[in-house]
Amino acid sequence: MKQLSNRQILLGVTGGIAAYKSAELIRRLKDRGADVRVVMTAAAMEFITPLTLQALSGNPVHTTLLDPEAEAGMGHIELARWADLILVAPASADFMARLANGRGDDLLTTLCLATAAPIALAPAMNQGMWRDAATQANIHTLTERGISLFGPAAGEQACGDIGPGRMLEAEELAALAANMFNHRLLDGIRLTITAGPTREAIDPVRYISNHSSGKMGYALAAAAADAGAIVTLISGPTNLACPERVTRIDVISAQNMFDATIATLGSCQLFIGCAAVADYRPTNAADQKIKKDNETMQIELVRNPDIVKTVANHEKRPITVGFAAETQDLIKYARGKLERKNLDLIIANDVSNTNIGFNASDNAVTAIWKEGETTIPQMGKNQLSTQLISLIANQFFAVKN
Ligand code: PMT
Repeated sequence: MKQLSNRQILLGVTGGIAAYKSAELIRRLKDRGADVRVVMTAAAMEFITPLTLQALSGNPVHTTLLDPEAEAGMGHIELARWADLILVAPASADFMARLANGRGDDLLTTLCLATAAPIALAPAMNQGMWRDAATQANIHTLTERGISLFGPAAGEQACGDIGPGRMLEAEELAALAANMFNHRLLDGIRLTITAGPTREAIDPVRYISNHSSGKMGYALAAAAADAGAIVTLISGPTNLACPERVTRIDVISAQNMFDATIATLGSCQLFIGCAAVADYRPTNAADQKIKKDNETMQIELVRNPDIVKTVANHEKRPITVGFAAETQDLIKYARGKLERKNLDLIIANDVSNTNIGFNASDNAVTAIWKEGETTIPQMGKNQLSTQLISLIANQFFAVKN
C-alpha cells in the first residue's frame, strides 16, 4: 500500500513564480497514491494555467468562490469537507497575511476557514518579504493555530537574491505531506535522548552549568513517543515534567550522562544528543565549601567525555543525531561537527538569538546531513519537534514505497 493511498489532498496554489513546481508536486502526491484536487487563486493563474493542473490531477480545478457551476458540483463547503489535508504550495506572503487575519475573500481562504482538516503551508517568496516583521508575525499566528509550515528553504531565488524563502522541492513536500498522516513513524524504535544542562561541581554548593532549560529535548522526547518510539530521556537538572510514555533517567554531571547513555547502547536504534553538556569540569571538586580567603581564585578544568561522539563511533552505534549550538558561522561549524563527530544528522541552532535556542519557547533550526540540509523556521519547540522527528524518521527509518 502506498503512503497516501485513500488520502484526499486539496492543493491550494497561490500567486508566485514557484507555482510551476505545483505541477510536479501533483505528480509526486499522485505517485504516493493521493487523490488530488486543486484550488487556484486569481494570482496563481497568472503563473500557470488551470488546464495544466487539471490534466495532471485528473480533476477539475476550482478557481472562484462564486462559480455557479462549481457550486452545483463541488461547492466550497463540500471541498472543505472532502479534504484530508489542505496543502498550499506555493503559499505567498499575501495569502498567509489574509489567512492569519481570518479573511474569506476567495475560495482558498474560505476553504481554509471552513475545513476541519489539517492545513500545511509551503511558503515561497523573496527573502526580504520572508524576513519582514509582518510576515514573521503572520507565521507565528498561523503556527500557533496549529497550521504546519513546510520550509521554506534558503538559497538562490528567482529574483537573484540569496536567502530564505524558496519553496521546498516537490519530492520534499510530498514526503512531508505523507508524514502528516503517519503518526507512528517511529513505531517500536528505541530512542535514547539527552536533554537539559549538566552541572559540574566546584565544591558541595557551587557548580558550572549553562542556560539549557531542557524544553527542546523534552519536546523531542514527547514527539518521538507520539510517533511510537520507546523513549529513554536522560535528563540533566530541569524543572520540567517528564512527558507521557517516556522513561526518564535523572543525571547531574556530564560523566553521569555519559555513563547512563552508554548503558543504553546495544538496545537503542536512535540516539539524539540535545543536552547542553559541559565541555569541561573542575579537575578536582573540593570536598568542603571553598572559603573566600583570596581576592582571586583559579579553577583548573579538564575535558569531559564527548557523549555524542562516543556514541557515533561505538561498535553498537545507533543512528546518531547531534545538535550544534553556535553563535556565529552556524552552518560551517555545524557541518564541521557533523563530520568530526561522525554523526548521521546535526541540528544547527543559532543560540545568539535569545528568541530561539536556550530557554526560549520557540526555536528555528537547520537540519544538516551528508547530502543535504533543510531549514525549519521559527515556531514553538513542540511543533518544531514534530517536524524534526518526521524528518529523522523519513531519512533513516522510512518504509520506501
Ligand atoms: O534546553 P533548551 O533551553 O530548550 O535549549 C535547547 C538547546 C539550545 C540546548 C538545544 O537546542 C541545543 O542546541 N543543544 C546542544 C547544545 C550543545 O551543547 O551544543 P554543542 O554545539 O556545544 O555540542 C554539539 C553536540 O555535542 C551536541 O549534540 C551536544 O549534546 C554534544 N556534546 C557536547 C559536549 C559533550 N561533552 N558531549 C556531547 O555529547
